[in-house]
Amino acid sequence: MEILPQEVESLSRAAAKSLSENLCLEEKPLLVSVLGSGWEKLPSACEIKSEIPFSEIPGFAEPRAKGHEGKIVLASAGETDILFQLGRLHCYEGYSPLTVCFPIWAYAALGVKAILLLCAAGGLNPVFLPGDLIIVSDHILLWGENPLTGLLDSPNPRFHLEGSNVYSPFMSDALRQCLPPETRVDVGVYVYTKGPSYETLAEATLLRVAGADVVGMSIAQEALTAHALGMEVAAMCCVTNLLLPPPLTPPTHDLVLEVAGKTVERLTSFPERYARMMCDRLK
Ligand code: HPA
Repeated sequence: MEILPQEVESLSRAAAKSLSENLCLEEKPLLVSVLGSGWEKLPSACEIKSEIPFSEIPGFAEPRAKGHEGKIVLASAGETDILFQLGRLHCYEGYSPLTVCFPIWAYAALGVKAILLLCAAGGLNPVFLPGDLIIVSDHILLWGENPLTGLLDSPNPRFHLEGSNVYSPFMSDALRQCLPPETRVDVGVYVYTKGPSYETLAEATLLRVAGADVVGMSIAQEALTAHALGMEVAAMCCVTNLLLPPPLTPPTHDLVLEVAGKTVERLTSFPERYARMMCDRLK
């Protein structure tokens, strides 16, 4: 099922109601984190309080990519809770950008104030190594459809459409502070490509010249949607493979899952530390 622009507001209210009831939410969650390829073990050290599969939430499509389970988990992270989205939807699965971003609409309807988008990406900046974490400072989405297409007529004066402040400096600085000290972490520009094929050498070279440090098939549309709906946004990618210089062995989805998974194993203390910083800011 694809989401149509004229139904997104009412459907997102129904999805929020379902999340609230099925997850037994006592209060509005402050923070949601979307876990992409290889990131699904991030909540492994958190106590899981409740969960619901995408299939039981109105408007949520089924993830079709390997490693993307498709469920929402309410996890206790110290003094606050985090809502984790395990698995994400992608346009390369055949879904429209609005369908892919519908979970973000549901979180906004639920009253979530901040969102952390986590994903895997290919490295374009030759100083990066596989396993590095890159905090996204900005993105390029010129080659993908804008997820707000068709929505300008909706009664939505609250839309923030400017593109210059999508990624929150506070949330981005907090990421760096909450990662274990030995983590290799840097900052960079993310460029969206639709996929599902990985980039040719000519494409990777073009994207690098255009100013990108990492390339991936997600987050930019989710980030724009969350920003437009008034949420504070941060994003971080795990570099799972290098595209420049050209690799001897081409990337595969299994490699992406493996490299990101190994990096994420070392981040068990991160959710609780990050939740604490966000809680102090948002409460
Ligand atoms: N290209 C696009 N998306 C990706 C890559 C890549 O090389 N690696 C992980 N996600």
